[in-house]
Amino acid sequence: MTSYPRWTLRTEHTSYTVRLSPDGPWAELDAWGPLGVEDGPSALDWSHRTHFVTPADAAPAEYLPYGLRPFTGSELVAARPGQDRGSWWDFDSAEEGEGSLRLTFTDDVLGLRTVLCYETVPGTDVILRWTELTSTQELRLERLDSAAVNIPVTGAARLTYLTGQWSQEFWRTQLDLSRGTFTMGSLQGAPGHGYAPWLAVQDGEAEAAYGIALEWSGNWHITAEAEPGGSVRVRAGRVPHEGVVHLTPGDTLTTPRLACAFSPDGLDGLSRVWHRYERHLAGERLNRPRKVLYNSWEATGFDVDAAGQLELAKLAADIGAELFVVDDGWFTGRGDDTGGLGDWYPDPAAFPQGFGPFVEDIRALGLDFGLWVEPEAVSPTSRLYAEHPEWVYRIEGRPARLVRNQLLLDLGRTDVQDFVIGTLDRLLGAYDISYLKWDMNRPPTERGRPGHGPADLDAEHVAGYLRVLDHLRAAHPDVTVEGCAGGGGRIEHATIARTDVVWPSDNTAPLDRLSVQHGFLHAHAPHVMSSWVTDAPGILDPRPRSLAFRFVNAICGVLGIGADLRAWTPQERAEAAEWIARYKRVRDVVHRGEARLLGTPDDSTCGVQYDLDDRTVVAALGTGRLDGAPLLPGRPDRLRLRDLEPAAHYRDTATGTTYSGAHLLHYGLPFAWSAGHDAELVVLIRQ
Ligand code: DGJ
Repeated sequence: MTSYPRWTLRTEHTSYTVRLSPDGPWAELDAWGPLGVEDGPSALDWSHRTHFVTPADAAPAEYLPYGLRPFTGSELVAARPGQDRGSWWDFDSAEEGEGSLRLTFTDDVLGLRTVLCYETVPGTDVILRWTELTSTQELRLERLDSAAVNIPVTGAARLTYLTGQWSQEFWRTQLDLSRGTFTMGSLQGAPGHGYAPWLAVQDGEAEAAYGIALEWSGNWHITAEAEPGGSVRVRAGRVPHEGVVHLTPGDTLTTPRLACAFSPDGLDGLSRVWHRYERHLAGERLNRPRKVLYNSWEATGFDVDAAGQLELAKLAADIGAELFVVDDGWFTGRGDDTGGLGDWYPDPAAFPQGFGPFVEDIRALGLDFGLWVEPEAVSPTSRLYAEHPEWVYRIEGRPARLVRNQLLLDLGRTDVQDFVIGTLDRLLGAYDISYLKWDMNRPPTERGRPGHGPADLDAEHVAGYLRVLDHLRAAHPDVTVEGCAGGGGRIEHATIARTDVVWPSDNTAPLDRLSVQHGFLHAHAPHVMSSWVTDAPGILDPRPRSLAFRFVNAICGVLGIGADLRAWTPQERAEAAEWIARYKRVRDVVHRGEARLLGTPDDSTCGVQYDLDDRTVVAALGTGRLDGAPLLPGRPDRLRLRDLEPAAHYRDTATGTTYSGAHLLHYGLPFAWSAGHDAELVVLIRQ
């Protein structure tokens, strides 16, 4: 039997083996799974018999152009201007490095060189994949995916994805795909609220879970195709806004990276692979404690002035908040959402003594100071727009539509990037600001740049956005950055690598928030999940839950307070102070430990278990089902913990109760919920 070159990449616990195909000039998957899975005949081997399709159409190919793969979905569609589409290439070379692989294919007719790139991420089970395209001739690229992944299945593939809309982001949704295509994505110049650029695939009920996540802040798609013959092939990449990207001779186009992850331990295990990866992305910044924030948006809206903010800040400081963030409404012309954006100067009417003294007053309370900005946005009534109408996306001769009464700056332009950098540098230089919340509240609608030839506007905007974020990190390393886009509209790994926390959703109502966070934690780590305690009932979800529930829910990530503390009773404030103090004692476990998702929001108890060294913290949330106890016979609800040592003993620091690991694994922690008691934060110490 002829053997074909194979290359294996190894992560902490997984291996990924690629080989040259026996059927043609392409790379295909040989094996992906736990370490050693490559020892044996490939589970992706197939009969090599085709009818009406070509072998390339049936192969578990890693990346194929239209042309070579004509029928069943390709990753690359290339053509010379005015010529027929398609690429037919030959294998050129392989370059293997420490944890990396580059496979090069060349098409001499198009002058196209395509390099499939692989890189393992140290200390994680993530393999990054992307593609580099270089040509000697001008080419039109109609599709330029990052990679395809292949997953063998014995029946229907179980797809798990995170979907919703504004205020309902990240709802975990599943479907069983036996045949056909499932596609999700966004054309909103951002990942969007509709779908997270993340997908998990399992072979039906099987535990083993494969995941992908696209590192791209612009337009994207992920497409899963259940193929005949027991395989699912998933293609992912950016979607060019103009329908085509022009590749200039000599230039190299690098696609966004696709992070690929595997866990034998189901979606919960897979979530830990992603958490670890995001801790890796945070690097040294993970060790900074995430401060307890107070944000005044829900309390004061656009009604921002020094006296009102200081009143809130005093109350926040009294209950133990460490950081005060003034949200939208602090700058000139921003009495409501019809004006102000672009003119980033504090409103002298709101801060009559000056903004500097106001910031000092906040700091005198022992609080750090944070500020909201929306750097890409501009109000049509602003001075900025009057001075630079050409900085806005527009199409000559067409009306510019307003979304939330605002327009969007073309951040792909260097002069716009420089303006944004200059604005942020000015604000951060003039005032003692430790925290910046970067918001973005409208997608590009009439997206054009009149007077310029064909441009890759989506990629240029992404590059501008990342350039400004990189500048913030380099020039203001002590400033914590929160990423936000009208809630969770722009959350993916490029943003997460350059911010400290992200805002998953504007919906802070307790039970809705539980669903948002449950989905979010499948893809993202607790240390990036900003979460506020707000007033009850919520604006969007009036189902009542206790203050304890709202705190425990927010403690599952990075705790903030967004309520109008002026309306809270002294008892509520005292309870809040206690919760904040408890959070401070466990936040290192929540942010740096291993998180395990226990149950779902559809269960009567849903929780998260966090483990770090000898401490286990369990956030348990009663979702509402009561069994009539104590008036009727009944037993407490239970949450079974995971991965403890059966023979070890664990002491509940609040009650002194000691449990064996075996007990906690087998029976679980008891929770006797009642109408008024719907959440607990349990801290266990291993003895
Ligand atoms: C949308 C954000 O998601 C909110 O938190 C708030 O900052 C508003 N924008 C302010 O306009």
